[in-house]
Amino acid sequence: MIKRVGILTSGGDCPGLNATIRAIAQSLRLNFDEKIEITGIFDGYSGLIHGKCADMTSYDFSSILTLGGTILGTKRTPFKLMRVIQDDKIDKVSQMKQNYFNSSEGLNIIALPKTIDNDIWGTDISFGFHSALNTATDAIDRIYTTAKSHKRIMVVELMGNKAGWLTLYAGVAGGADAILIPEKPFDLSNVIMNLVNNFKNGKQFSIIAVAEGAYSVKEAKMKKKERAEIRAKIGEKTATNIIAKEIEKITGLETRAVIPGHIQRGGSPCAYDRILATRFGSYAAKLAKSEQFGVAVAMINNKVTHNKLSEVAGKSRLVSMDCKMIQVAQSMGICLG
Ligand code: F6P
Repeated sequence: MIKRVGILTSGGDCPGLNATIRAIAQSLRLNFDEKIEITGIFDGYSGLIHGKCADMTSYDFSSILTLGGTILGTKRTPFKLMRVIQDDKIDKVSQMKQNYFNSSEGLNIIALPKTIDNDIWGTDISFGFHSALNTATDAIDRIYTTAKSHKRIMVVELMGNKAGWLTLYAGVAGGADAILIPEKPFDLSNVIMNLVNNFKNGKQFSIIAVAEGAYSVKEAKMKKKERAEIRAKIGEKTATNIIAKEIEKITGLETRAVIPGHIQRGGSPCAYDRILATRFGSYAAKLAKSEQFGVAVAMINNKVTHNKLSEVAGKSRLVSMDCKMIQVAQSMGICLG
């Protein structure tokens, strides 16, 4: 009997997606007794809704291990918008089921954890994180040398809207003096006090790593919308430029803001992510073989395993202030806001 497996990538891309696709396809091909046909579904769930798919052959999966992005394309379709009727005629969920040809059984889904934010609940690590961490750390390293030469304060914005993992890890790896993350609203006067002390003690430059979703103690008292409106009035989306201007105004020290942005999501996966993606992909193929669906692949205590999708859905894994890396940062005297 021929078995058919569909693969799609959705949400923000990250390094390692193609490595995962390759691992799934290769493991399916080599480890199933039946013939496996693979359908590539393009542009995430939107492709499933609109029936944008094509048969894929082993040729499509060749030479993609090291390739960044996703050969299938991706799209953000927020879950809450899934139920919305599009163009007054398409019920997205029923359209998806129809395209899937399996509406009576529901969708046989196996999810894999991908994100540079590393905020997926139920897994210790997601692929993409380590590649982005290397890029973000490299950005800080480059900023470090110019900051030191010019005796400047550099405020570096790193990705992470809700979760501060990338900023926390890159900040520690890059030797930042302050790390500001969304999980801990910052008090700028405290950050400045630390910075001035460092200057007094002879460190004549400073790196402040700020997550894109970081906000101040004052902003923490506001609703998200109100915060966004206040920032929009001064032409800002994130706190980074506001922090840099304020530091310069108060301390008189030359301060610059740097935003590497999507550079952190692009490029080739690092060796760690290639291996992780391959482990996850081959495990997903095993799950498919044993027909275990409605699950999300995970890494728990260095063992590849899976969780029920229903347990993972809607939850995030955020930085808790008693986690190990926060303790390490504190022990290194890094200001956490
Ligand atoms: O992939 C996650 C993420 O990088 C977040 O850190 C960031 O907020 C978001 O994606 C931005 O992505 P986009 O520009 O694609 O909406």
